[in-house]
Amino acid sequence: MGRANKVVLAYSGGVDTSVCIPYLKHEWGVQEVITLAADLGQGDELEPIRQKALNSGANESLVADATAEFVKDYAFPSIQANALYENRYPLSTALARPLIAKLLVEAAAKYGADAVAHGCTGKGNDQVRFDVAIAALNPDLKVLAPAREWGMSREETIAYGERFGISSPVKKSSPYSIDRNLLGRSIEAGPLEDPWTEPLEEVYLLTQAITETPDQPDYVEIGFEHGIPTSLNGETFSSVELISQLNQIVGKHGVGRIDMIENRLVGIKSREIYEAPALLVLIQAHRDLESLTLTADVTHYKRGIEETYSQMIYNGLWYSPLKAALDAFIQQTQERVSGSVRIKLFKGTASIVGRKSTYSLYTPDLATYGADDQFDHKAAEGFIYVWGLPTRVWSQKVRQS
Ligand code: ARG
Repeated sequence: MGRANKVVLAYSGGVDTSVCIPYLKHEWGVQEVITLAADLGQGDELEPIRQKALNSGANESLVADATAEFVKDYAFPSIQANALYENRYPLSTALARPLIAKLLVEAAAKYGADAVAHGCTGKGNDQVRFDVAIAALNPDLKVLAPAREWGMSREETIAYGERFGISSPVKKSSPYSIDRNLLGRSIEAGPLEDPWTEPLEEVYLLTQAITETPDQPDYVEIGFEHGIPTSLNGETFSSVELISQLNQIVGKHGVGRIDMIENRLVGIKSREIYEAPALLVLIQAHRDLESLTLTADVTHYKRGIEETYSQMIYNGLWYSPLKAALDAFIQQTQERVSGSVRIKLFKGTASIVGRKSTYSLYTPDLATYGADDQFDHKAAEGFIYVWGLPTRVWSQKVRQS
């Protein structure tokens, strides 16, 4: 009796997930392996990947087009939450995991599998995200992670695969470990492991080097409805189209690169490079529109929620009661976050240069320094007396003793 009878394996077409197929069958006694490749807008051709799974010994090879769902149900809530892990990483990789987990669990139900599997190693965040998300969606499903246990080096993995007709990468394999989807790219390993070493230009694909960016700025106007981006320069786009268009424009100006040392959940610090042009600009624009349309106390309170929310996404708690409760809070705040933000893209910077909303709380009569000022200046005096009273009392006490 093997570890499981029928397994749905998350499949990318790479060496590791390909080797998982014969490994599950021959080492772990799995009878039937069904692979599932999710299209999350990573730009890969899915048909060759589907074929490769079959050639690697899969009994069945599934492809799920999940890009629209990815944007609508994962990226947009994250934008509404202005989610940035450690204030910088817009979670482009992390957001994909709970969706892939959901697709695995659904396929397992449909095909009567008793386990699901993924190709994550034991050092990263993604294994945690998969395992915990799967447990949340179906606590009875077994989760198998061959690459976490097999202990093979890169070379050994390739050699193992060759025994089963899995071709090793034709081109000299890249020293980097790369994850990609519509929201962006995550690049690590190789020369990047030295935090003092500047990334070579070759790691970037979605963003131009500043030396190559246009010498004239571009302006983009992003329209939001209830905190969700719906238009670019006045034109309505589907969610997927909007992100890919924006990735192009923003990336062209060299905006959207991040080079950071981040704290993984498993206790390791790692050096990560990210490219997430559209996502970063959307969060920046969304936050700005909130500053126009939310009251001060909601804006300030929401910051704390955003911090927790970002950590929960990073730490694999997408499907959890606290996350659901925070979602309810965030949704409530987005009711009037509708309007437009104007952004100037130039030489690696995205500057917000204008914002407007029918729900704007900005009141010119109160804000103006001109003659039509409606603010009651005399009222300030009494306010300051009361506001400063505790400080005054404290200071008097300190000086006496
Ligand atoms: N550190 C990022 C995260 O935990 C990205 C990891 C993605 N994997 C990769 N092969 N670069 O979300």
